[in-house]
Amino acid sequence: MRLDYFIANATALSRRDAKKAISAGKVELDGQACRKAGTPVSPDSLITLEGHRLSLPAERYLMLHKPDGVISATTDSQQPTALDLLPTDVRKGLHIAGRLDADTTGLLLLTTDGQWSHRITSPRVSCPKTYRVTLSETIDAGAIARLEQGVLLRDESRPTRPASICKLDDRLIDMTISEGRYHQVKRMLAAVGNHVESLHRWQIGHIVLDPALAPGQYRALTPEEIACPG
Ligand code: URA
Repeated sequence: MRLDYFIANATALSRRDAKKAISAGKVELDGQACRKAGTPVSPDSLITLEGHRLSLPAERYLMLHKPDGVISATTDSQQPTALDLLPTDVRKGLHIAGRLDADTTGLLLLTTDGQWSHRITSPRVSCPKTYRVTLSETIDAGAIARLEQGVLLRDESRPTRPASICKLDDRLIDMTISEGRYHQVKRMLAAVGNHVESLHRWQIGHIVLDPALAPGQYRALTPEEIACPG
């Protein structure tokens, strides 16, 4: 992995501040000042910041801006997966906390910490997730009221929990749901006679997709984001 990634994971510094600390000569690698953020290091390298030895936390937590066409799986021989977007040594041991459809873009959380991901995905905890939804048809007040009450999905016997909707334009809404049923947003919109043209998740609990991340980019979560995901 790169030196700046190691520093950002081992401290509270952002990747940008880690790069600044490196170019300011505050970082030593195996006893030598190292001013190149891209220098490859391993989890066992001896790395110090202003004389203090750093080590990676036992568990790792990342956010990834998932691009269109990438599947939320750890391995697939046919299609590119979210894990393929990460360098090999970064992806080791990570799993996805809350999958997205291949054609859905946006916030994907990855971690090595099973208990933490359970807090995000468990139906009992009901962590809210917010999606920006582009629709093929205008949405009216009646449809919004139905979604906010909970709708019965095709082939299911129990209605969804109430969604919360913020109408941004005739065919554009933010929709927050606190369940993770299969294709839930698309099926809820289908249940009120509409159709999802594009779907982008931008928030999970308190964690907001970092606007500095282009599709395909990732960063370590901050200690605040890790402490309070839901
Ligand atoms: N709901 C969907 O329909 N698709 C997703 O990817 C996420 C939520």
